[in-house]
Amino acid sequence: MTFDPSEPYGEYRQQEIYAMGTLADQPPEIPVRWTALETAAIEAMDDRAAAYVSGGAGSGETVDENRRAFAQWRIVPRLLRDVSERDLSVDVFGRQWDLPLQIAPIGVQSIVHEDGVLATARAAADLDVPICLSSVSSSPIEEITAKLGETPTWFQLYWSSDRSITESFVRRAENTGCNAIVLTVDVPLLGWRERDLEQGYLPMLEGHGIANYTSDPAFCDGLSDSPAENEDAAIQHFLDVFGDPTITWNAVSDLCSMTDLPVVIKGVLHPDDAETAVDHGVDGIVVSNHGGRQVDGELGALEALPRIVERVAGRSAVFFDSGVRSGADALTALALGADAVGIGRPVVYGLALDGADGVRSVLENIRAGLDLTLANTGRTNVADLDRSLLVAR
Ligand SMILES: Cc1cc2nc3c(=O)[nH]c(=O)nc-3n(C[C@H](O)[C@H](O)[C@H](O)COP(=O)(O)O)c2cc1C
Repeated sequence: MTFDPSEPYGEYRQQEIYAMGTLADQPPEIPVRWTALETAAIEAMDDRAAAYVSGGAGSGETVDENRRAFAQWRIVPRLLRDVSERDLSVDVFGRQWDLPLQIAPIGVQSIVHEDGVLATARAAADLDVPICLSSVSSSPIEEITAKLGETPTWFQLYWSSDRSITESFVRRAENTGCNAIVLTVDVPLLGWRERDLEQGYLPMLEGHGIANYTSDPAFCDGLSDSPAENEDAAIQHFLDVFGDPTITWNAVSDLCSMTDLPVVIKGVLHPDDAETAVDHGVDGIVVSNHGGRQVDGELGALEALPRIVERVAGRSAVFFDSGVRSGADALTALALGADAVGIGRPVVYGLALDGADGVRSVLENIRAGLDLTLANTGRTNVADLDRSLLVAR
């Protein structure tokens, strides 16, 4: 058996896995199945990191609800259409993405692998999978973007209580070639996360995830010693300036006038908020419940998607994350009107299991699953997907 990597993603990946397993007795090291991936990664991580990544707010009800929301929709394939050629590309803010997928912003990745987000960035660059970088990363934005080259890259912003830091982060994102700023608005305060509280664990207190801050001139202006000289003072200052629960919609207009980059707000679940966001000039909305990490008992994020798509009615782009575990899940969210879909925990689990190789493997599987599922539903173009792909249960 020979392989041609220029073949459509799905067939290539599938044949590669079957051949390695059957002919070379080497089944994939990174589990293909979501439940097996999660189990293996949780075993590989220390208890505190496993709880931080896999856990949610409160009892974890919303984490499960995100999966239940997918089960409310079923795919209805159409038959006997030529599906030999497929197009998975989408246009996002005037730029072509090869895939309608993006690595969601994930903070403190150094708790699961020593290379942290640098490994994730390497995998993203290898596969040209778009990525959104978190404010609370284990390496400064300049170091990460140097690895990303031309890969579409966004920067996720937490609005700091020190405005000069917020502005400085926006400038740094612009200067490093990021293509959009994503303001996360569903964390006015950190959620009540019982599993982390049980272990008394917050990674930032050990200095994880604060590299953008300690490398920032505006942040360092607030310190009497450099972060290298006094790490404890830097961590305390981070805790003091990280968030600002007083912000209102004015911050969104403020951000829109602060930058010429497209502005996206992340964490929207109510159609009225989506409408207000559009009125305040955003270019995009991420329908998300932060992977169930903020409010226990919240609705599944996918449940919110159709109503928001309908309300926004094309006046801004609409993206989606929270609960996407496979290519078929991504296809469902795309059919419900998402322009692209964010992948969160599966990427972290790949990273925990095998660094950049693990992330690559997870992304290749989701990409192949998306491609093959698209074909098997009788569709050939992700940009043309619509609700006719689905029935509601
Ligand atoms: C460990 C971890 C860290 C995260 N850090 C951030 C972050 O820094 N900024 C942000 O906007 N969202 C963050 N998120 C939320 C993700 O961007 C995304 O909304 C969520 O993971 C989607 O849920 P899923 O992973 O269950 O699909 C984080 C999620 C996890 C699991």
